[in-house]
This record gives sequence, C-alpha cells and structure tokens, in this order.
Amino acid sequence: MKTAVFSTKSYDEEFLREANEGTGLTLDFFEERMGTHMIPAIKGAEAICTFVNDPLPAAVLDELRSAGVRLIALRCAGFNQVDVKHAEAIGIHVTHVPAYSPNAVAEFALSLILTLNRRLHRAYNRVRDGNFSIDGLLGFDMHGSTVGVLGTGKIGVVFARLLSGFGVKVLGSDPFENPDFVAAGGTYVPREELLASSDIISLHCPLTPDTFHVINEKSIKLMKDGVMIINTSRGALVDALAVIEGLKSGRIGYLGLDVYEQEADVFYENLSEQIIQDDVLQRLVAFPNVLITSHQAYFTFTAMRNIAATTIESLLAFRDGKPLKNTIPKNLIH
Ligand code: NAI
Repeated sequence: MKTAVFSTKSYDEEFLREANEGTGLTLDFFEERMGTHMIPAIKGAEAICTFVNDPLPAAVLDELRSAGVRLIALRCAGFNQVDVKHAEAIGIHVTHVPAYSPNAVAEFALSLILTLNRRLHRAYNRVRDGNFSIDGLLGFDMHGSTVGVLGTGKIGVVFARLLSGFGVKVLGSDPFENPDFVAAGGTYVPREELLASSDIISLHCPLTPDTFHVINEKSIKLMKDGVMIINTSRGALVDALAVIEGLKSGRIGYLGLDVYEQEADVFYENLSEQIIQDDVLQRLVAFPNVLITSHQAYFTFTAMRNIAATTIESLLAFRDGKPLKNTIPKNLIH
C-alpha cells in the first residue's frame, strides 16, 4: 500500500523509515505541506500521513476522497487542523497518535517556566558577549507559588507530577476531573478562579470552540499582575494581540510559547535570511520576557520513535483490514 507523507523533514523520514522496515508499505515523502496543489502527487496512494500544520478542511478532503484516499494518519496528537466529521462522513478514516510522550511536552513546559523565571535565555547571551552583570536577571522562588493547569489530561497530569517536587500549589481546570491529577497533588477549581489565583498558568487543553482564544483581553484582566503564561498546546488558545497589550501594561510578566496561531507560515523553516512579514510574531519576539520556540515540545528521541511506531501500526492495520486503534474519539469530534 502506498502512503504519501507530507511536511517531512529529514528527522521525520529517518524515524518513519526505521519503523517501516520489513512491513512492505511504500512511503513517499514530501517536504511540502498537504493542500489541493499536492493532489496530483499522491496518485495511487490509499493513505496520507500529515502533521500539525497541514490543514485538511472539507474541500481538500473531498479532493482526497476523489483521488482514492481512505485513511489520514496524523502523526501528532492534536487534530483541530482536520475536519474529522466531514472526513468520516465521506468515508475517510482519521487516526492520530494519542500519547507518544506526554513527558516530552510536560518537561518542555517546565523548562520554559524555569528559563523565563531565571532569565537563562538572556544570561546565556550576556555571558557569550562578555557581559557578566546579573542586573535584570532577578527571579523568584517557585516554592510557595501557585501554578494553574488548564487541561488535566495526559500531559497536564505529568506536568502536575513534575511540579510536585517544587513545593508549589497546583490548581487545575477541566470539564472532566481526572483522579490522576488529584493524586499528583492538584486541586480542581473553576476556570475563573484558576486564572485569578495562579502565578503561572500553563495550557494543556486541546483547541476546541470552547478553548479558542481562552487567553484573551477579558481573561487577562482576571489574572494576577506579573503572571506567567505558558502555551505548549495549540497557538489559537491565545489571542496574540491581547497578550501583547498585557505584556506592554505589565499585567503579563512572562510569556512562553511553543505554539503560535499563525505558526504554519513560519515554524519549522529557516527564515533567517528573509524579512519576516508577521508583525505580531516579530513584536512578541522583541519582548525580553517572552520566549518563543518553534513547536518543538514533542521533539525527543522517545516521542519520535513512538510517533513513527504508532503511525506505521495504523497504516498496517488499515492495509490488513484490522480494526483501527487510534481513531479520534467520537466525543471529541466537533
Ligand atoms: P488529552 O486529551 O489527554 O488531555 C486534554 C485535556 O484537556 C482533557 O482532560 C480534556 O478534558 C481537557 N479539556 C478539553 N476542553 C477543555 C476546556 N475547555 N478547558 C479545560 N480543559 C479542557 O491531551 P494531551 O495528550 O494531554 O495533549 C494536550 C494538548 O497538547 C493536545 O491537544 C495538543 O494540542 C497539545 N500538544 C502539543 C505538543 C507540542 O509539541 N507542543 C505535542 C503534543 C500535544
């Protein structure tokens, strides 16, 4: 069976090739993102494999169906970029990789917090420049502070466990209370209370109509002065213009973003020789108390191996007519 794999970098290819050894599946790799312009390239493919920034709205899905595609194997956990309801309605299965390494993302969120708090990103550059002054690098003890976890699923729980060693108070908000979060020392509170009481707010919920721009002008007004906001989940959870105002007024004291609403045009590419046209992104990058990374929280050896193994497993199950284990849960399809 032929599968067209999109948005691939050399590292994606390496891990997928390794997992695919001896299976008999044919993988055709494309660096390009998936879109209608790529339909001619997938000729003969029954499956495609895409990533976080390959949008698959109804119109593209219809074309894929006409071209003979019956399976979309997402090699990521989030699926907000795909109209899953439409895909299912026209007979295309969608699988994802529900848990390739919650540790990778939770550990990354924690590293953003520690880096921003102790201003390691600035200290690193200062010392390289022969500037050994520590003026302006003053941090705070995490011990005794309150951390709010919005979304207490797989990643949120691991994050809460990691925090348990710091002597912080951990608050959580989630429509479904998870006993593992409570076992990790977390306490559930309503979303507004979490926003108002936390020194650090870390987002670990999926992008849904309810969470779109959950960090906005109104919610920022509820927060403590100097709050730290961390987003390793999906860019559109945060209204970037509202956080810029929050940063300018000082209401937001620190911002760590591994995801950004308009990331599809810039993340994963080397644009260092180009003039970046996104003024909002450039404004965010210019703040000394903002740290932006290029959607790399998942990027560990363990996660890459697990992503490749689960993706190949889904492709093989489909080829062999076996039940698909990693379809999108019905209750999460919007
Ligand atoms: P999960 O499905 O285990 O947990 C998500 C939790 O969010 C669930 O408990 C759910 O009930 C909760 N939730 C849903 N709506 C909510 C709302 N309105 N308010 C508060 N909580 C809400 O997912 P997991 O594995 O923990 O991943 C979380 C998110 O992390 C994914 O949706 C994905 O967007 C993101 N992610 C980012 C990665 C990166 O590299 N930056 C890598 C992997 C995932």
